Amino acid sequence: MAQALYRKWRSRTFDEVVGQEHVTQTLRNALRDNRVAHAYLFSGPRGTGKTSTARILAKALNCTGPEEDRPCDVCPTCVAISEGRMLDLIEIDAASNNGVDDIRELRDKVGFRPSEGTYKIYIIDEVHMLSTSAFNALLKTLEEPPPHARFVLATTEPHKIPATVHSRCQRFDFRRIPVVEIAGHLRHIATEENVQAEDAALTAIARSAQGCMRDAISLLDQMTSYGAEAISLEQVHQVLGSVASESVSGFVDALADQNVAGGLQLVHSLLLAGASLQEFTTQVVEHLRGVMLVQMTGDSGLLDDRSPETVKRMEVQARKLTQPQTLYAVKRFGEAIGELKGGYQPQLPLELALIEVVRGPAATVVQATAPAQPAAAQPAPATPTPATPAPAKEAPADKKTAASPKEEKTAASAAESAPVPLDQGAVSKLRAQWNDVLSAVREQCGLKQQAALRAVRDIAIGENAIALSFGNNKFAKDMISEGETLAQVSGILAQFVGRQVTVECQEGETATLSAAAGRVVRDERTADGPDPLLEFAVSELGAEVKDEKGGKRKK
Ligand SMILES: Nc1ncnc2c1ncn2[C@@H]1O[C@H](COP(=O)(O)OP(=O)(O)OP(=O)(O)O)[C@@H](O)[C@H]1O
Ligand SMILES: [Mg+2]
Ligand SMILES: [Zn+2]
Repeated sequence: MAQALYRKWRSRTFDEVVGQEHVTQTLRNALRDNRVAHAYLFSGPRGTGKTSTARILAKALNCTGPEEDRPCDVCPTCVAISEGRMLDLIEIDAASNNGVDDIRELRDKVGFRPSEGTYKIYIIDEVHMLSTSAFNALLKTLEEPPPHARFVLATTEPHKIPATVHSRCQRFDFRRIPVVEIAGHLRHIATEENVQAEDAALTAIARSAQGCMRDAISLLDQMTSYGAEAISLEQVHQVLGSVASESVSGFVDALADQNVAGGLQLVHSLLLAGASLQEFTTQVVEHLRGVMLVQMTGDSGLLDDRSPETVKRMEVQARKLTQPQTLYAVKRFGEAIGELKGGYQPQLPLELALIEVVRGPAATVVQATAPAQPAAAQPAPATPTPATPAPAKEAPADKKTAASPKEEKTAASAAESAPVPLDQGAVSKLRAQWNDVLSAVREQCGLKQQAALRAVRDIAIGENAIALSFGNNKFAKDMISEGETLAQVSGILAQFVGRQVTVECQEGETATLSAAAGRVVRDERTADGPDPLLEFAVSELGAEVKDEKGGKRKK
């Protein structure tokens, strides 16, 4: 397999480290003045250049090129470090060697003179993982370092470093890299790699990486294997399960126009489209922040990572909303992001936030006390046939007894599905924990696989099998179906449902299990039963709910 792009594009000189000039410039000055500290602590989020910068520093210290141009990146030492075969550069991954033995070994050998270069450089990655005794051993070395030794401790969690160690190091904080700079770097890589890409696509990738360059490059890598001629914004959205900025602007338009019904409908259609509401809400907050900046400063120059069309929309919205409204909205939707962690009605926190922002916090108090009855009493406008005239007092738990279209579709399997409510429960439970599933997949398999799993439209769980359908996203389906990934995903899902399962990936909107998979129960991703908030919106606010998936919102 070809080398991963992010490895191939590891920064080789200070100039190539993007967005961390406050670090690289200080290091350069120290090198120039011969004031390089004995120990550095590089802290900061994952994938922002800590290890890369540590290696560049190691090069610079041992470089044999012209003094004013170190690291030169072409002398034998620089090349040896780039190729990972320089004996005087010792990299220790504390995450896998957190034992005191490794640090003792370091301490025993640190006294020997460097074999090739002038300095011996120790890079201890994820240093916060060291055990207490290992830290103590390290401290001894840091207290009396041999003159030829230099240390770089790197960590994503600086608060876990003991103060005694911390105080012996000069600390540099790597920052999340701004969207414009990530996008610029992606453009550079794309050009060098002969990959066509829309600007908007690169910006969307950069934004989703949240300051982490490694994730951004990995995602670009994934997009290049998509096979199309040029990477488009639409493809990026599809892979990320994210939503077009049009939806975000549209949602904020609804806010600015006090149009609750319009906003609720938009949320509903996003949910049907399988979008991640958490990500959507994050984007809404980012967008509102833009509106806020325009209102506060009257200067849209601060929004230079936004497209001109988006900035125009923001300016209009900034005039319609009052400043307190915008501030409240930023705060309230910000809270909603944390609350959107699945649950019985995954979209509820977002919907409540919307209503509160438009109507004021009191609005949801009324809503919370009077959900089902008034709504269920009258048929929804979108309901074509009154198959069940008035299931008025149906509690959500009884939803199986309501003649919903879902069951019409599965009439054939009704006989089997009726006596096993347990598996029906498994689907609801799994959906409620879907964000945790996504996190586990991200951890065990990676970002791409997590993004692919976001494309899941429907889940079916049988006795010993799970079917996942991916809509028309063949790319995502294939990625999860791949041997090793499938095994990992099966393992993760098995943990969540509490039994061994085989996982089958399918195209199409509806996941189906073969009879061999045992008792079969289906559930659709959004068919959680009546949604009190939506019903409230329909009956009280005159919202119209489209029947996109066979009228599942029918009452
Ligand atoms: N500031 C940056 N400029 C350019 N590329 C970067 C930058 N940061 C990270 N990268 C890219 O990401 C890859 C990983 O970076 P690096 O290993 O330096 O990150 P890190 O901060 O050490 O991350 P971790 O905390 O996960 O160890 C690099 O090979 C490079 O392709
Ligand atoms: Mg690192
Ligand atoms: Zn050199």
